[in-house]
Amino acid sequence: MSYPYQIKSLQQYKEAYQKSVDQPELFWSEVADTFEWRKKWDRVLDWNFEEPKIKWFEGGKLNITENCIDRHLQSLGETPALIWEPNNPDDRVRVVTYNRLYKRVCQFAQVLKNNGVKKGDRVCIYMGMVPELAYAILGCARIGAIHSVVFGGFSAQSIADRLEDAKAEYIVTADGAFRGDKIIPLKNVIDDALIGNRTVKKVIVYTRTRTPVSMIKGRDVWWEDEMEFAETQVEKEGVVSFPAEEMDAEDPLFILYTSGSTGKPKGVVHSSAGYMIFTTYSFVNVFQYKPGDVHFCTADIGWITGHSYIIYGPLSAGATSVMFEGVPTWPDAGRFWDIVDKHKVNIIYTAPTAIRSLMGYGTAPFEGKDLSSLKILGTVGEPINEEAWHWYNKHVGKEKCPIVDTWWQTETGGILISNLAGVTPDKPTYATLPLPGVQPILVDEEGKEITGNPATGNLCMKAPWPSMLRTTYGDHERCRLNYFSTYENLYFTGDGALRDEEGNYRITGRVDDVLNVSGHRIGTAEVENAINMHYGIVESAVVGYNHHIKGQGIYAYVICNVVHTDEEHMRQDIIQTVSRIIGPIAKPDKIQFVQGLPKTRSGKIMRRVLRKIAEGETENLGDTSTLLDPGVVTDIANGKLN
Ligand code: WTA
Repeated sequence: MSYPYQIKSLQQYKEAYQKSVDQPELFWSEVADTFEWRKKWDRVLDWNFEEPKIKWFEGGKLNITENCIDRHLQSLGETPALIWEPNNPDDRVRVVTYNRLYKRVCQFAQVLKNNGVKKGDRVCIYMGMVPELAYAILGCARIGAIHSVVFGGFSAQSIADRLEDAKAEYIVTADGAFRGDKIIPLKNVIDDALIGNRTVKKVIVYTRTRTPVSMIKGRDVWWEDEMEFAETQVEKEGVVSFPAEEMDAEDPLFILYTSGSTGKPKGVVHSSAGYMIFTTYSFVNVFQYKPGDVHFCTADIGWITGHSYIIYGPLSAGATSVMFEGVPTWPDAGRFWDIVDKHKVNIIYTAPTAIRSLMGYGTAPFEGKDLSSLKILGTVGEPINEEAWHWYNKHVGKEKCPIVDTWWQTETGGILISNLAGVTPDKPTYATLPLPGVQPILVDEEGKEITGNPATGNLCMKAPWPSMLRTTYGDHERCRLNYFSTYENLYFTGDGALRDEEGNYRITGRVDDVLNVSGHRIGTAEVENAINMHYGIVESAVVGYNHHIKGQGIYAYVICNVVHTDEEHMRQDIIQTVSRIIGPIAKPDKIQFVQGLPKTRSGKIMRRVLRKIAEGETENLGDTSTLLDPGVVTDIANGKLN
């Protein structure tokens, strides 16, 4: 197969970048030409950021699974598409070749069809990291259903909200999921989410943990039974087939919910063609993928990183993608290195939070592990601090592997700013340069472009790229307000950045009320809403603070209306409430009980002061003269938790 635009030298990078700016349509049509189309497009790009309207490859017809699977069968049929490493290292590894993946995806597409799923229907997927999750995702894509994967760490309430927002009628789940020494009872959580739900018609349940489940007659069916029946339908005389639905380039491929600064997660919608093209293009170039390379992205498929760089990008490139069910520290902190050694991994792509947590275990977990297969290391999800970067470089890469620091977002679909491994220079803590086709700019508060270097400002994009979000599900105006209304004619990322003399970008973190906890995006308003649901709470304010492993921790200032003699008990109640409403990932790390919050005369909470106190600054808190009652600040500072 031909790969989209392989950039092999700094000179080529510069040329490609220039071409992508001067002739974007020509540039992207050349990239798009390397894919399988049922029908080629009529028009490469049609856009404006006012509405916004973003259309790539209009008139084109395709199915992403034909690109991720069918086109590889002839040359790569017996090559592993997925290598599945189970939670328990003593359990059997599963190697899924492209031939097998094809068969399973056809079979599952048939299962969906048998259960009434049609093109455009929304299917919610709530599973652990098992190959069946990949079959479910690709099965949806094959019949043109829109998948909405929900991370296993979200609560029943969060699932219920997402089901309702997406008006999902189908769910694919499992009895449970193994994560280290824990079992997450997925089906029970789904059952809780479905109390009172009247729209879900079918729940397909895969057996993984043998956790007891209640299967409701007429609604719940077993994955295994359905697959067995479907097998006889898709396979005739040894030939497997399930015709892929012909999709328009702009037909939605999936929805993925993510937090913003408002209290409600947004359903980010990605398209079929643009998403496919950009994830493949970025995968091949950023990681400098070579045929035969084994790629290990440690993310969960419940997040965008798993969608783009475990499933769609690597599979479309015909790569071998490692899928890991467990956690990095179980049964011990050498698990990633075991996996690298066992499967001869060439590319590892992980998060700074994982690196920082493994740093705490010293070098013993590396003993006896052969990491010599590694060629390229990557990070994603949050800024990587210098110490973690050097540790990764020294102990994992043995100072011979380039590190790609990849900046992107759920909304961008794929990596926008990153060095290309070994081709463009890396610089610790810098995501460095934009990929060809990506046009970042920095603006000041008024939206004026900050030119010249060095510079700092808010990071925006001034032109569309193929895998950008198209809308927020069911509410286009929300998409406009969130991303396109802050600054005229720009996509606003919500991140701040600085740019050095050479034009390298360093992402400094969110400039809105969104936290990044262990690489997971959490809106402060969401956490506040959850805390405020507890009966004893009048009001709360949540801010982030520097956390040595998680990057950011969650600090909550809480006003209670009940006299609590046991503060610790009250804290546990609050934590329990947040776990129930959002999920364990949003639990506050610190809860300080206060009498009042610092509010301006117009009633706005002065978060800047709360952030400073959470960071341990209790003296120089800046100008507080506009506060209704500046005395509140002193009280809060005096009661600061350590
Ligand atoms: C942050 C994850 C610094 C950033 C793919 C962004 C990063 C948010 C980096 C998106 C990086 C992601 N350096 N910060 N290399 N990568 N971020 O939607 O704040 O889960 O806006 O997508 O993570 O998080 P999301």
